[in-house]
Amino acid sequence: MRFLLSILVFSSATFGSVKAASCIDGFDLVNDAMCVKLVTDQVTRDVARRECNLMGAHLVTIENQIENNAIFKMVMSANTQIWLGLCVLMPNEASVKGFWYSVDCEQPKAGYICEIDPVDTCVEDTLKGYCYWAIGDLTKDEAVNACAKTCGGQIASIHNDAENTMTSYGAFGPNGDHGPIGYARIGAQLSSNNLNSWIDNSTWDFSNIGYQNSHVGSCYSISLRDQEVARGRWISADCDYQMPTVCRRRSDAKCPITPSQCTTPTYLSTANSTSVESPNYPYPYCTNPVGPCYYVLSGPSNTNLSLRFPIFNLDTNSTISLYSSLSDAPPFKILSSSNFDGTSTWYNSPSNIIKIVFNDRTIECNSTTAIYSWKAEFQTSTTTVLN
Ligand SMILES: *[C@@H]1O[C@H](CO)[C@@H](O)[C@H](O)[C@H]1NC(C)=O
Ligand SMILES: *[C@@H]1O[C@H](CO)[C@@H](O)[C@H](O)[C@H]1NC(C)=O
Ligand SMILES: *[C@@H]1O[C@H](CO)[C@@H](O)[C@H](O)[C@H]1NC(C)=O
Ligand SMILES: *[C@@H]1O[C@H](CO)[C@@H](O)[C@H](O)[C@H]1NC(C)=O
Ligand SMILES: *[C@@H]1O[C@H](CO)[C@@H](O)[C@H](O)[C@H]1NC(C)=O
Repeated sequence: MRFLLSILVFSSATFGSVKAASCIDGFDLVNDAMCVKLVTDQVTRDVARRECNLMGAHLVTIENQIENNAIFKMVMSANTQIWLGLCVLMPNEASVKGFWYSVDCEQPKAGYICEIDPVDTCVEDTLKGYCYWAIGDLTKDEAVNACAKTCGGQIASIHNDAENTMTSYGAFGPNGDHGPIGYARIGAQLSSNNLNSWIDNSTWDFSNIGYQNSHVGSCYSISLRDQEVARGRWISADCDYQMPTVCRRRSDAKCPITPSQCTTPTYLSTANSTSVESPNYPYPYCTNPVGPCYYVLSGPSNTNLSLRFPIFNLDTNSTISLYSSLSDAPPFKILSSSNFDGTSTWYNSPSNIIKIVFNDRTIECNSTTAIYSWKAEFQTSTTTVLN
């Protein structure tokens, strides 16, 4: 959490307010401050660290007793010991009550918890409408995927001095941890015909290259401190070298939201999302007998909301009912595997609300062949379509 704290201080002092916390798909919000994902695969600490990096996250670090207690609860309920950021294990034994112990990182195998900053702590450049964050050691190709995991982010491209400053200072905070190398990957690359371009395909309209040498590599990094090149200057880097990376996305990018189970309704509006997914998506849903799962979607008043299912793999026993109000008045549509109209069909509510009730009735949810999942997109209706 040290990294998050430095960002919070920096962003509230310099770049505007901090909003309520929420997490990207697959991560659960803990103590309103950290987004975590527990993996029970038993691996060495290096593998754990790398798997977290590939998700755009890092191995969990625990900064205080409250976090320690929360993580210890997860560890006990998952019945596995886990790696912490250092070469330290948290055992799943009630008798040790969440104490840690040091071990040889290479030897034992344990589960792990990846941590990622809440979506809303992305450091915002309010003038330009982008926000910035840093992720762990990855090659260029890995970083392209890891940045995209958070709401479609991309490796940062840079188009003026202000963006250059955001990239070199903003993503890491003024006192942030710059790692042993003090460079971070940016989205610039040198093509075979010796032209510079941005991986996000934006125009090459600004350059701050301090040292270029195609023998070093055809990617670029930005210097995070005054060293071979001054802070903020760009230097050639090997595309396959695993290094820190600066990601960015539009501040108003909408992130998909996936409930991990169905104990409470999921409330979303067109202001904060465009899609919902079955519990555990992209993995098969398996909520029976906890369900049904409720999702309440809303659009601005005086509009009608529409919904379609780009992914609809329902088992033969489950149904999805669509209601136009919060009450249990008859649904305007009940969908099953046998009456689905296709992925391009919009289901239109006569109001600005769609309540989805997912009745998960599968009893084969744990079978290795189950592929059951669904994803719905919603928007205010622009054209009249018949149900
Ligand atoms: C950039 O353009 C190339 C070539 O048209 C394309 O393959 C690639 O997907 C584009 N990248 C992005 C991030 O849009
Ligand atoms: C999205 O907006 C709705 C309606 O304003 C709100 O109730 C809900 O908490 C928001 N959800 C998220 C994940 O921000
Ligand atoms: C919403 O749907 C209702 C019922 O179908 C219709 O009367 C109304 O005109 C629609 N409103 C808008 C803004 O499309
Ligand atoms: C649906 O229910 C029937 C009868 O209980 C059962 O035999 C079948 O396995 C179920 N299918 C799934 C996908 O759960
Ligand atoms: C599926 O597996 C989970 C975890 O092993 C178990 O808690 C649950 O009861 C199983 N569900 C069914 C329907 O077998």
